[in-house]
Amino acid sequence: MIEQTRVPHTGGAQGSQPVSEAQQAVEERLVQNVLRSFENCEDPRLKQLMQSLVKHLHAFIRDVRLTEDEWNKAIEFLTAVGHITDDRRQEFILLSDVFGASMQTINVNNEAYGDATEATVFGPFFVEDAPEIANGGDIAGGAPGQPCWVEGTVTDTDGNPVPGARIEVWEADEDGFYDVQYTDDRVSGRAHLFSDEHGNYRFWGLTPTPYPIPHDGPVGKMLDAVGRSPMRASHLHFMVTKPGLRTLVTHIFVRGDELLKYDTVFGVKESLIKDFVQQPAGTPTPDGRDLGDSTWARTRFDIVLAPAAA
Ligand code: BEZ
Ligand code: FE
Repeated sequence: MIEQTRVPHTGGAQGSQPVSEAQQAVEERLVQNVLRSFENCEDPRLKQLMQSLVKHLHAFIRDVRLTEDEWNKAIEFLTAVGHITDDRRQEFILLSDVFGASMQTINVNNEAYGDATEATVFGPFFVEDAPEIANGGDIAGGAPGQPCWVEGTVTDTDGNPVPGARIEVWEADEDGFYDVQYTDDRVSGRAHLFSDEHGNYRFWGLTPTPYPIPHDGPVGKMLDAVGRSPMRASHLHFMVTKPGLRTLVTHIFVRGDELLKYDTVFGVKESLIKDFVQQPAGTPTPDGRDLGDSTWARTRFDIVLAPAAA
């Protein structure tokens, strides 16, 4: 008699069916055949990637005892992800983001180095050639939101100031939209500036507010189906570059934001949560700017760059 064993399952419709040894042997033989088909790949890294992918993919199919109907649905889903993707909308990156795959790739490639500032997801809303502003300038460009004074230093991991670091900043307006999500070609909520001779920088931005990732496509439908929110925790994006130092792509988050624990792309790191201190209307501003009867906020973000080769 053929011995019946149970494979552990994680929810496939047939997941609790016993799998005979003969059936397991059929499945195992296929895995080995597919692995062998990559044996002659001349690029060792490509071969490693392909064979590991095959192992994990087959393990998943066998683990959940994937039904043909489920396989068809998965293909339909990926087809829809492809169809909505164009030059302005990258649904595959969004998919990677909500699976935590983007964040895990960042973790793997940005190992902690001394007290260097931690990296997080890039997101789809960075634009090359954002306008340059002087230190102390305003990135808002007319975008609505509460003015927020942002200041800090750029240093290396030995504590030396880094003058001339290029600091790109970008953020959504208080309605939760980046400029590129509007159809009128506006440029707002983004700019670049350079750290001064002492490694200091400062600018006016907007106090970040929460907003959803684009969720009118297949990724949004998937989040809905599994009861997940599309919301991101409030944040302000930075990319800091300086030759000889590791490029830093990161954001800062707002302490106290209820969404910090639920950021749908898993981008929050404790070290990136900052105090955004509310200032009552009439409080003198650091640069003497007259904000009339508007409240404002201020925050500090000291940036530490790792060596390029680290
Ligand atoms: C964002 O930060 O804007 C973002 C990041 C990942 C996916 C979607 C949006
Ligand atoms: Fe963002």
